[in-house]
Amino acid sequence: MSVYSNRLKIEELKLDDVYQMNNWGRHGSLLFKDYNFPNMNDKQIFDWYKFKVKNKNKKSYSIKLTSGKLIGYLTIREIKRFRKISTLGLVLDPNYMNNGYGTESLIIFLNYYFQNLKMKKMILQVAKFNKRAIRCYEKCGFRLLTEYYDCMDIQDIDLYRELPKEQVTDNFKVRNGIKYMGFYKMEIAYKEYKKRTKDISQNVYNFVDMWKRFKASPQYIDNNNLKNT
Ligand SMILES: CC(C)(COP(=O)(O)OP(=O)(O)OC[C@H]1O[C@@H](n2cnc3c(N)ncnc32)[C@H](O)[C@@H]1OP(=O)(O)O)[C@@H](O)C(=O)NCCC(=O)NCCS
Repeated sequence: MSVYSNRLKIEELKLDDVYQMNNWGRHGSLLFKDYNFPNMNDKQIFDWYKFKVKNKNKKSYSIKLTSGKLIGYLTIREIKRFRKISTLGLVLDPNYMNNGYGTESLIIFLNYYFQNLKMKKMILQVAKFNKRAIRCYEKCGFRLLTEYYDCMDIQDIDLYRELPKEQVTDNFKVRNGIKYMGFYKMEIAYKEYKKRTKDISQNVYNFVDMWKRFKASPQYIDNNNLKNT
């Protein structure tokens, strides 16, 4: 499986991809600590990869620039084959954030998800303070379903050092000395996807169609086939 936009290529995650993640940038804020790729030896990388791909209810994909450089990955987990629902995870190399790659990759992936995998709905959970991610999901057509609070994994964190005061008040709660983080649950269904992302995705679809036509044309040289001759 490979899907393209004019800047990106998404395909199934391979073990080689994971080695490249070792060279990714790092988030400064403790609140994004979980998105820093952990320093791992070869065995740990192999185990991490196996964990991402072995489970039948989970699928992981690489996000690459058309040059082949790996800039992120996305995962759909808790895949419900009969209800045709899954839960999204999306992570970019911090060096490549804020360039529209998250939105672009999700738009082309949603197209594949609904059209090829024939799924009906995608859901996700996102921390309320994570405004960039929320904006990205909104741009892709996701809508807010519910809000909830969950006990934070890191308790010894000074939230006021990480975020402006109003962001702490709006997105976190402290009860009996325990810190809780606010989350939104968001979803997109196929019908909404078609309706709400028509304009944004028009260019992407056009490119995918153009690419398909080019691949079918005599000008296209398949490097993989050349390697085999
Ligand atoms: C979340 C993530 C995938 C988004 O991808 P991205 O390429 O950085 O995002 P995009 O550039 O496509 O879109 C970001 C949008 O948020 C906006 N934005 C950025 N920082 C913002 C902030 N602090 N407050 C509000 N909006 C913000 C940008 O301006 C842009 O919106 P615009 O196009 O309307 O201007 C990526 O940043 C990432 O991997 N983050 C770390 C891991 C993570 O948080 N994953 C999501 C877990 S649910």
